[in-house]
Amino acid sequence: MKENSIAQEAKGACGECGLRSRVWFAGEGTAGFNHRANLKAGGHLGEMFDGRPVIGIANSASDLVPCNSGLTELAEWAVRGVLESGGFPLVFPTMSIGDSIMRPSGMMYRNLMSMELEELARSNPIDGLVLLTGCDNTAPAYVMGAASTGLPTMMIHAGPMLSGNWRAQVLASGTDVYRLNDQARMGDLDASDLDQAEYGISRSVGTCNTMGTACTMGAVLEAMGLSLMGTANIPAVDARKKAAAQRTGRRIVELVRDRIGIADILTPAAFYNGARTNAAMGGGTNTTAHLVAIAGRLGVPFTIDDMEKHSRDVPLLANVKPSGEYLMEDFYNAGGQAALMKAMGELLDTSAPTVSGRTIGEEIASARIWDPNIIATPDRPFSTAPALAVLRGNLAPRGAIIKATAADPRLLDHRGKAVVFESIEDLDARLDSDELEVDADSVLVLRGIGPRSYPGAPELGNIKIPRKLLEQGVTDIIRISDGRMSGTAFGTVVLQITPEAAVGGPLSLIRNGDIIHLDVANRRLDVELTDDELELRRREWSPAEDTTSRGFRRLYIDHVLQADEGFDFDFLRGSSGAPPMLRRP
Ligand code: FES
Repeated sequence: MKENSIAQEAKGACGECGLRSRVWFAGEGTAGFNHRANLKAGGHLGEMFDGRPVIGIANSASDLVPCNSGLTELAEWAVRGVLESGGFPLVFPTMSIGDSIMRPSGMMYRNLMSMELEELARSNPIDGLVLLTGCDNTAPAYVMGAASTGLPTMMIHAGPMLSGNWRAQVLASGTDVYRLNDQARMGDLDASDLDQAEYGISRSVGTCNTMGTACTMGAVLEAMGLSLMGTANIPAVDARKKAAAQRTGRRIVELVRDRIGIADILTPAAFYNGARTNAAMGGGTNTTAHLVAIAGRLGVPFTIDDMEKHSRDVPLLANVKPSGEYLMEDFYNAGGQAALMKAMGELLDTSAPTVSGRTIGEEIASARIWDPNIIATPDRPFSTAPALAVLRGNLAPRGAIIKATAADPRLLDHRGKAVVFESIEDLDARLDSDELEVDADSVLVLRGIGPRSYPGAPELGNIKIPRKLLEQGVTDIIRISDGRMSGTAFGTVVLQITPEAAVGGPLSLIRNGDIIHLDVANRRLDVELTDDELELRRREWSPAEDTTSRGFRRLYIDHVLQADEGFDFDFLRGSSGAPPMLRRP
């Protein structure tokens, strides 16, 4: 096991077995007695303390996060697997993050959740981790925390909810939310229609049923070797999900015995495969920040430019919304993750390890595509447009991101006049106004939704089409911001402009009528202003007053890094390797 972490602590406590849990349970004095006696209150057999690996099963289930609320049942199946392999399973709850519910943004709490996971693992007798994840930020949060511990780790992803259905229409999470609400804004649907559509679009527990951030992260982390192959995208309520959890429980015990830590799996080759699989799936834009943040915890060199470089020659092979036509359940039935990766063939590093003990190549060797309308091969892809482009220019010196497969090709090289909104409140007040001076060639500019100005950089970057343009039949327009957008959203949307406006990035200097040039082929985002003019405006600029006085929000604002550094906290990068709390004061 790579020893950069709390896994090292066990050496002193149990030189041969390497189990951290022996620090707690092997003692002969009052401490050992007390630790064993305390857990025996849970009814555990005495043999559970005989030196077998203790597996912490981290459960992010919550009534506030229906995406994850099936995980408690999966935890029971993981427990079975751990017992079958001779381990000692202990399920523990953590906070959860519901991305469509939490305000101001689930992303604001990703780092907090990662800290909680790390600290619970660090302060308790845990030798290996099973991570039960689901909604968008829960998977990266857990993996970031586990990465900082270095412990042997496996992930089980909740999987997508059932495909939506209403009035004989298939409904897609997120993607159809925007469409249905545009219909309501146009007066074509009333409140009662929307009430029924809400049930139709969310028919079961599980994550969004499109290739949004949740399913993307489940699939990408599986492609990186952290889950058993083919398990992430099993629908949440499918019986096979339970079997996957049981197999995971069995395997994690072996990983601990073999001393295979998370850093042995999440190698540079894993990040390479993750970036390329994300591109082939048409994965969401949030993947970039999450992978950069996870890499930062592990000390693996991986930047937004690596994400773009690894993605560039990978065609779109999954015909799944929002980039395609089908839903995740269809994708799974068409062969799923393994079939897609088998189709990718030489586009992957098939020698990369996985938690199964076999390589990626061995894991996908027997996979097949069962429906070529849903999973393609590189010689006949669904699109060759870049899934992800990292833009630079005088408007984005440290980068910006566009998901080109979700954009209108007509707008990928476009000049237009800026229509500037100072904040989300300003946008809400004026977007649908008859007085708004906007046409189909305009570029909507929204600032003040970056990580510091609107903690978490909420998914508000896919600004709605102004009502007056909707009435003209306009379906897409360029939108640029320092925020993020949901992986289920679509449109010609430039996101995560870095540095954000609140810290004086050039986005803060744009005025109505400035000409903005988006040129995706050349990876450019520029405002057609001279350096002198930009400098003049910079001297006139001053930051908005910061009135946040206390609490986690204060911590967040003080320590969050910009998008190009994965929105992690400056003090969380790397692994701390601090000793566990051996004695209570
Ligand atoms: Fe939780 Fe989409 S809101 S996965």
